Amino acid sequence: MARIAHISDLHLVEDTHHLRRGAARLRLEYLSAGRTIDARERWDRVMRALRRVCELEVDHLVVTGDLTEDGVGAQFEVLSDALDAAAIDPARVTLVPGNHDAYAQEGAWARALAGPLARFARTSAPAVTTVVGDAVVVAISTAVAQPLLLAQGEIDAFQMAKLAHTLDRFHRDGRTIVVAQHHGPERRPGAMQWLDGLRGYERQRALMAEHANAAVLHGHTHRAADRPLDGAEHPRVFSAPAVVDSDDPVRVYETGDGRVRPLSASRDAAFRARLCA
Ligand SMILES: [Fe+2]
Repeated sequence: MARIAHISDLHLVEDTHHLRRGAARLRLEYLSAGRTIDARERWDRVMRALRRVCELEVDHLVVTGDLTEDGVGAQFEVLSDALDAAAIDPARVTLVPGNHDAYAQEGAWARALAGPLARFARTSAPAVTTVVGDAVVVAISTAVAQPLLLAQGEIDAFQMAKLAHTLDRFHRDGRTIVVAQHHGPERRPGAMQWLDGLRGYERQRALMAEHANAAVLHGHTHRAADRPLDGAEHPRVFSAPAVVDSDDPVRVYETGDGRVRPLSASRDAAFRARLCA
């Protein structure tokens, strides 16, 4: 058994964003449309969510993308500071990037994992796996360089091949496989698929449909959902509300018997395992 917390869509902003000018300013304002750009408020929301995660006594935390508003280096430093402030053990966190983490600069996620988030690279680099109790968490990046008007995702060939290998290997080991990614593995309605869908989602669906012992945790939609990947009850797909929008953004799941089940956050812990110092 393992207990996994899930948060998503932090959209963190750097304290000095008001110093931005020109294209960098316009990019931030466009991406934040409809939300106040208040670095302190977004930090406070993230800290409340992380403190809640620490109270829940889970074994692992998954953060499914849009960690930052537009992916400048200073915003990844803010995330690093927040995770530090919450005293969460880096070995027990899987971070994956979303489309927002890739707008400012190509290769931003690789730079973040080599820089301010280096202590999370072992659990969060594309396609790496982390064993958590009877489960294994797989980090999948769907972040791609694209114009601001688009919010698509894509799993590159390297990660797709690694995912196929991971599903087969850990299926044989009898483990539950938890795939963490920003975009959900399904077709978005109508033109939304072109605007913000996961390109080539059919390949992942076909791969995962054969593995009832797997589940996907994702963000991007900014709302909680729980549905089957295909016709069968398993594998299932879960999404989390956005930390930047929701007052109750933490989801918790329990793994066991090759299944991932959502828990009510208020349920008592059946066992103790410390995530935070
Ligand atoms: Fe988002």
